[in-house]
Amino acid sequence: MKINILTIFPEMFEGFLNTSIIKRAIQNKKVEINIYDIRTYSTDPHKKVDDYGFGGGKGMVLMPQPIFDAVESLKTKDAKVLLMTPQGRTYNQKKAYNLSKEKELIIICGHYEGFDERIRSLADEEISIGDYVLTGGELASMVITDSITRLIDGVIESESHLNDSFNNNLLDYPVYTKPVDFRGMKVPSVLLSGHHSNIKKYREEASLKRTKERRPDLVEER
Ligand code: ADE
Repeated sequence: MKINILTIFPEMFEGFLNTSIIKRAIQNKKVEINIYDIRTYSTDPHKKVDDYGFGGGKGMVLMPQPIFDAVESLKTKDAKVLLMTPQGRTYNQKKAYNLSKEKELIIICGHYEGFDERIRSLADEEISIGDYVLTGGELASMVITDSITRLIDGVIESESHLNDSFNNNLLDYPVYTKPVDFRGMKVPSVLLSGHHSNIKKYREEASLKRTKERRPDLVEER
């Protein structure tokens, strides 16, 4: 899987690409993540990427030329183009699963007060990571990239994501490690019993109970 990210702030990705599971997935060639600086595609002598919006209003608007040129130079027949915007469809685990099956993604990060409306025509899909507004699409693109990468075969043990919250519209069951008794808070005895079918049953029930309490909307969708 190849993920190409277009941004005017490439430095924001350094920690993300060089830490933990994402770093290892890149090293093990499970995923190729390329960060492209939109500015390098600008034909303006000063490498301008934004300008004032027509009709007034505050803030700068990303211009179409650098982003069109970047997408056109990177796009292959397999590549799906995603635009990060709070106006997109809200992202969820199911979307992460579907995207993890793609061969190649191009993710455009919007910024400042907005981007020229014509940039939308480049996108196969517009995605929002939630009903709040970020200063730009960079964090959203990292959220998408992180959630997809961990689902790629061989990145983490598949058992880990088979039990993820939101699989089958259920939240994850509680997990515990040592010590058995921490400040009077005890690990449920069934988990210490070694009885696999009882443990399985406990986890299924705990998962359903937790989902009913915290996310009844998910239970209704099941
Ligand atoms: N850019 C700014 N806010 C965003 C959001 N909530 N999701 C995706 N991209 C964004």
